Amino acid sequence: MRAAPEDLQAALRALRAGELVAFPTETVYGLGADARNPAAVRRIFTVKGRPARHPVIVHLSDASHLADWAREIPPAARRLAEQFWPGPLTLVLPRAAGVDDGITGGQDTVALRVPAHPIARQLLAAFAGGIAAPSANRYGRLSPTCAKHVREEFGDAVKLVLDGGDCPIGLESTIVAFGDDGARLLRPGRITAGQIRALLGELAVGADESSPRVPGSTAAHYAPSTPLHIVPAGQIDARSAALSQGGQRVAVLAWRAPLGAHPAVTWINAGPRPQQYGHDLYAHLRSLDKAGCACILVQEVPDSEAWSAVRDRLRRAAVGAATDASISAAS
Ligand code: TXA
Ligand code: MG
Repeated sequence: MRAAPEDLQAALRALRAGELVAFPTETVYGLGADARNPAAVRRIFTVKGRPARHPVIVHLSDASHLADWAREIPPAARRLAEQFWPGPLTLVLPRAAGVDDGITGGQDTVALRVPAHPIARQLLAAFAGGIAAPSANRYGRLSPTCAKHVREEFGDAVKLVLDGGDCPIGLESTIVAFGDDGARLLRPGRITAGQIRALLGELAVGADESSPRVPGSTAAHYAPSTPLHIVPAGQIDARSAALSQGGQRVAVLAWRAPLGAHPAVTWINAGPRPQQYGHDLYAHLRSLDKAGCACILVQEVPDSEAWSAVRDRLRRAAVGAATDASISAAS
């Protein structure tokens, strides 16, 4: 898959002029700006409605550019880059001098990633510089996994969207930070903690107090507008039936078919395979969000490593909705 030459040229002109370009990666679509142009980077925040001091990832064409952005590259970080780049992994490293505060959120670290999607690679190779890009969604909402989602999010505010079809992974990259205490997993993704541990021997998991800020770890992130509740796997049929009998239209995202039909329930069976489930997750949540239901009930997914990225995004999407207990009380 390649971008048409005229689309690529338009994207390069836009980036060089300090404008924004949305582009596909293997994880989700990014909203890109020239990472060396502070005004362009500020524009990302305006368009997304994102608070100014949240850091963004700088995308690079290959690891040979690391030293332009990071002043120190621990051997363990190098090993991860060698093993997993290009690919769905972001490394948080001590920032080099001259990296814009708008990118780092004023922190002493910078997030770097070499994506694998052929169109992202084509764009980065031709641009020959870093492209700062968060996911191409309004702040706090679901990440876009196809070009249509990006257009729905931004309309005319983002004129240039390189269309690379469906993102093959569909969930954001794994983020690993390197600090004084070694490697730490800040966000689970397709590359799992187990794969990283196998390579490094050690990996702390989750943010601690000295960890850099990850807005994705704050409340109500990756969220649909409809309240979303996680329901224990074995209770999903009874819960959805009870709510719909109480007169509510109910959306369900499950990993199996319903045991019986119920007319007021919109049920998506996303299947029992974690990678496929993760690939489809945001598209399913977008469509359930539009189904005009009072709530989205999500059947809890297994607590195994293969599901950890999915579990993480579901947990965040549920933050801010009423508690599960209040739904069962309401039913
Ligand atoms: O898969 C992905 O990573 C996608 C594609 C477009 O590359 N990008 C993405 O960007 O998910 P965004 O901005 O939606 O999420 C990046 C996360 C944010 O939670 C941000 O806080 C964190 O990376 N991050 C960026 N710079 C950081 C830093 N210096 N320290 C800690 N976290 C950082
Ligand atoms: Mg995001």
